[in-house]
Amino acid sequence: MSKILVTGGSGYIGSHTVVELQRAGYEVIIVDNLSNSTVGVIDRIGRISGKRPFFVKADCSDRGVMRDIFGRGNGIDGIIHFAASKAVNESIDKPLHYYRNNLDSLMTLLELMPEFGVKGIVFSSSCTVYGQPDLLPVDESAPTKVAESPYGNTKQISEEIIRDVINSGVSFKSIILRYFNPIGAHPSAEIGELPNGTPQNLVPFLTQAAAGIREELLVFGNDYNTPDGSCIRDYINVVDLAKAHVVAMHRMLECLECDSVEYYNLGTGKGVSVLELIDTFERATGIRVPYRITARRAGDIEQIWADSRYANEVLGWRAEETLEDTLRSAWKWQQSLV
Ligand code: UD1
Repeated sequence: MSKILVTGGSGYIGSHTVVELQRAGYEVIIVDNLSNSTVGVIDRIGRISGKRPFFVKADCSDRGVMRDIFGRGNGIDGIIHFAASKAVNESIDKPLHYYRNNLDSLMTLLELMPEFGVKGIVFSSSCTVYGQPDLLPVDESAPTKVAESPYGNTKQISEEIIRDVINSGVSFKSIILRYFNPIGAHPSAEIGELPNGTPQNLVPFLTQAAAGIREELLVFGNDYNTPDGSCIRDYINVVDLAKAHVVAMHRMLECLECDSVEYYNLGTGKGVSVLELIDTFERATGIRVPYRITARRAGDIEQIWADSRYANEVLGWRAEETLEDTLRSAWKWQQSLV
């Protein structure tokens, strides 16, 4: 049974991925500094899967601790690296924190991997690397654009660091996964997104507004060049997204003739506007969302959705959940919190 180190494994996408890795028979070690999650998530993962994953509270830029974890006879085969700061606005206020935190942790892992014979690293990247693409849907060959935020820049730089390290002739491989907009929660409502303070992302804010925790959802702009004037994104179910990590890990560990670095878009292939998403939520749950149109948010791109055919064909993966079911899962999760 292969052993996988999941950094940031108690976070939103990380926790869902740990559940799917365990279901697929992998043994999981989580390293998380709990900066944006709680140890209770580890118990909740255990309740879903029937097996509490091995957990170490640590920062993965701490080389001493990480060397200990790799060396403890653990025989780690692969890494999925989620641990990172991810708030776009915060990154504008604290750029050095973002560069230090997101890049140091990655470089520490890359330095230790050859020493301990780790075969590969799956990296959490983002469609933010494409900026506003010239062609839609956007595929993996599209050029990366100047990043809109230090957060986005850390994703671009991380991709470049991985590529350069692999090109230097190390023996491990990497798969870079470019997520579109992950939303929803595990159907059990044991795990989901736990925003710190006021949510910055659309769906957590929407479900809090629907629950009466927020007075109203502000829709950032209805004067974009889109059919209803609001921005368009590709919203991907978090469990579907988690499953993509399992197939990516399998490919990285087993495939002999694969490229040493591969890039995959993970989205549904369908663009949905903010107003459409609100309408779909209301229809799927029967709950009204109080909302108001307001000014555009600085840094938002107008529209983006994925061409995920490469992941469909090569990984044999596709997004399966409907937007209705995904929004129902987000609502169920929200209700479990109040
Ligand atoms: C951003 C990041 C992305 C990151 C993701 C998760 C960029 C360009 N995008 O995505 O890389 O992975 O966050 O952290 O850096 N909206 C509202 N009202 C709200 C909140 C959002 O109308 O209260 C709208 C936004 O204008 C946008 C859409 O909803 O059109 C989605 O916004 P959000 O959930 O914040 O994700 P992104 O900005 O697309």
